[in-house]
Amino acid sequence: MSDIEINSILTETRLFEPPANFTANARLKMAELETLHQQADSDYEGFWAQQANALLDWHTPFSKTLDDSNAPHYQWFNDGTMNVSYNCIDRHLATQAAKTAIIFEGENGDTRHISYQQLHDEVCAFANALKAQGIKKGDRVVIYMPMVAEAVIAMQACARIGAIHSVVFGGFSAESLRDRIEDAGAVMLITADGGTRGGKIVELKQAADKALSKGCSSIQHVIVLKRSGHDIAMQAGRDIWWHDAIADQPSSCEPEWVNAEHPLFLLYTSGSTGKPKGIQHASAGYLLNAMTTNLWVFDLQDNDIFWCTADVGWITGHTYVAYGPLAAGATVVMYEGSPMVPDGGRFWKMCEQHKVSIFYTAPTAIRALMKLGDDLPAAYDLSSLRLLGTVGEPINPEAWMWYHRVIGRQRCPIVDTWWQTETGAIVISPVPGVTATKPGSCTLPLPGMDVAVVNEAGDPITRANTGGYLVIKKPWPSMVRTVWNDNQRYIDTYYAKFGGKYYLAGDSARCDEDGYFWIMGRIDDVLNVSGHRLGTMEVESALVANDAVVEAAVVGRPDELKGEAIVAFVICKGERPAGEAASAMVQALRNWVGEQIGAIAKPDEIRFADGLPKTRSGKIMRRLLRDIAANKAITSDTSTLENEHVVAQLQGKV
Ligand code: WTA
Repeated sequence: MSDIEINSILTETRLFEPPANFTANARLKMAELETLHQQADSDYEGFWAQQANALLDWHTPFSKTLDDSNAPHYQWFNDGTMNVSYNCIDRHLATQAAKTAIIFEGENGDTRHISYQQLHDEVCAFANALKAQGIKKGDRVVIYMPMVAEAVIAMQACARIGAIHSVVFGGFSAESLRDRIEDAGAVMLITADGGTRGGKIVELKQAADKALSKGCSSIQHVIVLKRSGHDIAMQAGRDIWWHDAIADQPSSCEPEWVNAEHPLFLLYTSGSTGKPKGIQHASAGYLLNAMTTNLWVFDLQDNDIFWCTADVGWITGHTYVAYGPLAAGATVVMYEGSPMVPDGGRFWKMCEQHKVSIFYTAPTAIRALMKLGDDLPAAYDLSSLRLLGTVGEPINPEAWMWYHRVIGRQRCPIVDTWWQTETGAIVISPVPGVTATKPGSCTLPLPGMDVAVVNEAGDPITRANTGGYLVIKKPWPSMVRTVWNDNQRYIDTYYAKFGGKYYLAGDSARCDEDGYFWIMGRIDDVLNVSGHRLGTMEVESALVANDAVVEAAVVGRPDELKGEAIVAFVICKGERPAGEAASAMVQALRNWVGEQIGAIAKPDEIRFADGLPKTRSGKIMRRLLRDIAANKAITSDTSTLENEHVVAQLQGKV
């Protein structure tokens, strides 16, 4: 891809220095940050060893920091043993057993405060319940739950006994759930009768039953949390209620001391094929960077109330809800429902009510709430807020400025954090008490993160504002360890491009004259819809699985609210659908994709034609499709097209 080296024309020049009173109380000031960078630069392994010793409690200490003898399979701290749940909970009990660990609020307004002691007791009881159901170290457990405290309890309980969890976002369909269960070879599924979102019940158990009705032969038991309380079917011998499972279980459970490299979890994410990849993370390295970033980027302090709005079904909900803040002994807020219930002031109301001091959300949510105007946030007392964050997609300067002005009231630094499911934790981000921010830039790599923008040959691009491949040059503790069941895909996706030298992030980026990073977008066929990754191939495979469809191509179109919208070009069997038949087909295919993958994957627009624009060698001209989807003038050369007449059809002209 030689056209990646493009000169960027974005000229954002505003610079926001960290507010002096923020800096005065910040964990990291200029001098401390510089020391960390210097340590990492002069003795990389020593730096991480020091962090791992300072921030994690070890059952047996490690003697070797990084083993790179089997690169790109890197091992961190591997002869040390520890337990993630112990580090998130038990070690805080001596000093802060009564401190609130989780503030939960349901969409209906029910709230629950769970102290570290209660969290300990509930995690232990549930861990014992898992053991009673036969779950052992290394077993895979799939968690398909609403955004309730029990989801975190289930994750922590798995970690406690060395079981490997794989959380599947509750918005994914039965089909997606089945694929993930099968790929992971899970022996247990933990779900709920239903969750509540947007005033409606999300039928989780029903979807789980559908998933398990075909295949999924590895599943032995299903634990079901009663949440919505509506009627559901329970299958005798297979299904057990959560409350029954824990009924007689003691509230203590010796942690399973695992090696640092023991797999902590799998999380499936989209790539450039039709099949999502099971990103596998390890225990100690993951938790270490979950902690370092919570301290460095979110400046977590004793009395902070930290609200990361991400669902636990995504990596952000793992690292900045379920693990990192707890390892740092903080209080986190969890919210079950939609930001629009009862109105678009819900987030701000909750910030006021729970005295949230650190708020972390996605640009897509900011844009949606920005559209509703300034009055809703103005109605609430947001003076408890001291730090704001964003993640998941590039934030446009307009949304950044609104966040800064209307939510942060010009007092709060904004951390625009770049990272991925694969990186496990934040890699590039401002350090809020130190880094001057520029709207739209994630600024600079954190200490110990060796990030660069390189050209096709793998050489660093030194010219400012010239785009290239974003790579990470050295392994880091929380990096992906492999793709579950498909190690070759791990090597091919992340390490093949530059001969095993660098981790390839899959994003393009540029650095400006100050060395600040600006993320430009994906270089592969991955869309970013409302901050969620979706492979175009996944949506295409879902479409062609429908009997009416012969062929399909899916591309992204820039969208003001969602970042990218999904546009599908579809070739149907028989006549090209027109008029009412076309509308009916669009509806049917949107629902179909919703069933195959989940509502987030439903195409925003579907266009029909007699064929797809292909080169004479049979390659779909995706660039052309992207131009058509965006209703742009066509710049590609269409003279080599096998079937030029379909272009007008796809443009909706004939
Ligand atoms: C994108 C989410 C611009 C990027 C934590 C990355 C971003 C993908 C940012 C990972 C950001 C994430 N600015 N783009 N601050 N953060 N991205 O795995 O394309 O769901 O590769 O992890 O989101 O998405 P994932």
